[in-house]
Amino acid sequence: MKAKNKAFVSGILPRLPFLNDLISKVSSGSNTLPKPMEMLLSQKGPAYDLMSNEDRIQMERKELAKRFVKADNLYDPKLLQDREKTGSKRLSVLNQPGLSLVTDHLIDYPAPININYFWSFGSLAGICLGVQIATGIFLAMHYTPHVDLAFLSVEHIMRDVEGGWLLRYLHANGASMFFIMVYIHMFRGLYYASYVSPREAVWCLGVVILLLMILTAFIGYVLPWGQMSFWGATVITSLASAIPVVGNSIVTWLWGGFSVDNATLNRFFSLHYLLPFIIAGASIVHIAALHQYGSNNPLGLDASVDKMSFYPYCFVKDLVAWVSFGVFFSVFVYFAPNFLGHPDNYIPANPMSTPAHIVPEWYFLWVYAILRSIPNKLGGVAAIGLVFACLLALPFLQTSEVRSSLFRPIHKKLFWLLLADCLILGWIGMKPVETPYVEVGQIASVYFFVHFLVFVPILGRLEAKYSRSLAS
Ligand code: HEM
Repeated sequence: MKAKNKAFVSGILPRLPFLNDLISKVSSGSNTLPKPMEMLLSQKGPAYDLMSNEDRIQMERKELAKRFVKADNLYDPKLLQDREKTGSKRLSVLNQPGLSLVTDHLIDYPAPININYFWSFGSLAGICLGVQIATGIFLAMHYTPHVDLAFLSVEHIMRDVEGGWLLRYLHANGASMFFIMVYIHMFRGLYYASYVSPREAVWCLGVVILLLMILTAFIGYVLPWGQMSFWGATVITSLASAIPVVGNSIVTWLWGGFSVDNATLNRFFSLHYLLPFIIAGASIVHIAALHQYGSNNPLGLDASVDKMSFYPYCFVKDLVAWVSFGVFFSVFVYFAPNFLGHPDNYIPANPMSTPAHIVPEWYFLWVYAILRSIPNKLGGVAAIGLVFACLLALPFLQTSEVRSSLFRPIHKKLFWLLLADCLILGWIGMKPVETPYVEVGQIASVYFFVHFLVFVPILGRLEAKYSRSLAS
């Protein structure tokens, strides 16, 4: 075996022009190293720099030989690339066919060295999705999707099932955590303009995931069959009746009857079980799209020369975020499990009694405020459509040549204004429809669209003009 490797190495080395070039330069006493080798040396650290050229060549030769032998043994020409695969043994678990995906995307993935803790919110969103799927599967083992039993089966889970209270509180609060993580993840993307070329697909897939999340959370909230479940479902599904001509037929089709009833609850349960798996699939495509061009970074500049492997560096950093998140999540689950919910949902659904205020969960309030800011049903639905159209179009509306808000002082201010605007919309969403809340909501809604449709495209052009005038 050794003889075979030796023959292989001695056969391949003379075919490497830059190494031969280096050998001839060193033997002729020249101090300038050829370019490819200089690049290699710069990655080796100070001890390497102190070595003599001969020692360096020996070391490089050994490393190259190791790599070629490994490539030869694994029949994998990809190993001839600069990057070393994790795990050196042929039989290492990580070198098995299916797991090379894990190796490529979670271990060897080259991440920019300067990413900050805001880059941990993607993996935190993934953790939330995992928690929701895991707890949801166990909850479904004890839940009954029937109008006469749904509310009682949830109470049965809370009181009789071993650990059922924990499963339910993890799932109910997990939905809120998921939205908190995803909203921070999105605002990180807005601040550092991670959505612009070449990451348009990453952003647009994210918007699709957000839509699917909203749908999943909405139908999930109907399942406990409390007052808010029933009336929330009635109000939101009725919005479809605003569609001209076919609106009423669509509502009847959605309900599976002439009101929100057993058929509605059954189909919502079925879809609520299905959609998270579609979100999981979409998240994998989202990450695949990201890994095609690599992550953005706080400077927004091309980071291809300054990268580190995901494991262990980013992993350890993410671990800090994951543990902190665990603490944050636990505070809600163990000390304030109903803080984020509405007390009316502990009253069984009653189609004969409408609650005084029908409010959605906190994470829908900003969209709900935009919906209500137009005093016309169809107009409200159109406004929601426009919100998602703006988000989808964002990568193509952006005209700035610079990504990060760190170098765009006006954009930075607009970013904070947009965040404040969304918080105001959230506050308006839980207020009754009366003066001055209606007017404040209308102004905040208009501002939301002005940000995306006017400020984003214009600001980039103004910045370009200003920088050209400075240069001339
Ligand atoms: C289930 C929900 C989601 C999951 C599990 C998820 C997961 C991830 C992960 C793991 C990353 C890489 C790490 C990071 O940059 O944080 C990422 C990046 C990214 N995500 Fe998401 N994401 C989700 C939803 C969204 C949404 C709703 C959007 C925006 C509408 C979005 C936009 C982005 C962008 C633009 C990047 C690239 C960031 C960069 O390179 O700087 N994601 N996502």
